[in-house]
Amino acid sequence: MPNLASSDALKALTDWWLDMGVEVDSARIDALMREMKASEPVLKPVKADTKGAPKAAPRRTRGPTDWVAEATRAAAACDSMDALKAAIEAFDGCPLKATCEHTVVYDGVVGADLMVIGEGPGADEDRRGLPFVGKAGQLLDRMLAAIGRSRTENTFITNVNYWRPAGNRNPDAEELDVCRPFVDRMVELGKPKLIIATGGVPAKALLGSDDGIMKLRGTEYTFTTPGGASIPLIPILHPAYLLRRPQDKSRAWRDLLLIEKRLTELG
Ligand code: URA
Repeated sequence: MPNLASSDALKALTDWWLDMGVEVDSARIDALMREMKASEPVLKPVKADTKGAPKAAPRRTRGPTDWVAEATRAAAACDSMDALKAAIEAFDGCPLKATCEHTVVYDGVVGADLMVIGEGPGADEDRRGLPFVGKAGQLLDRMLAAIGRSRTENTFITNVNYWRPAGNRNPDAEELDVCRPFVDRMVELGKPKLIIATGGVPAKALLGSDDGIMKLRGTEYTFTTPGGASIPLIPILHPAYLLRRPQDKSRAWRDLLLIEKRLTELG
């Protein structure tokens, strides 16, 4: 049973149960939420500070430049998450940048102990310039809320690719390779205690594995950056997949409980 910190978490949990087809005693839950609301402090949302990030002009970039080396150099020069965001937005080494509207870097609380890393922006994210804000993102928010987590309070959210591939295909190996130095640096600067990789693309890329997500999910691995940071990483099913296959939500729920338990243990 998760440790429910607030009535929001309780609501998210019961919504999640309803999604999974589990019957809940709504009258009892409503009464419990009223009791919890009455005794809760008012929390102010924490805003990610994105001041000072230059707006990069999208342009196609091909040629002799070693873009992975460029990304490695640019990422290493960043000493703050703001600087890293600006460096990613200014980076012209990924051809996907030419066909999308926004560079989508991160959302949530810088320095949070939980970092969620997804695959990359879709159409909604590209339009708004923020990760996980479409339907899958809304489900991700509900999944996180069920274990007392949110991007406004205690969770940082990013992706292994910052530019939407036209037609919503998966990012290819080259596209992931040029983003990787930035992802590594983001982990080093954010210092999360635990990383969640949502879906097969980030799980395989971050772990260097050829195994599918069904094999990788629900197990703890160690993610190591070139700078020497070693962080526990747990892959879960992607929320977009869960929207298509709600019958697999019980698996995702088990994985979330493991994540909650590990976060408690990691302090
Ligand atoms: N899916 C992802 O993996 N990331 C997003 O930001 C949105 C959808």
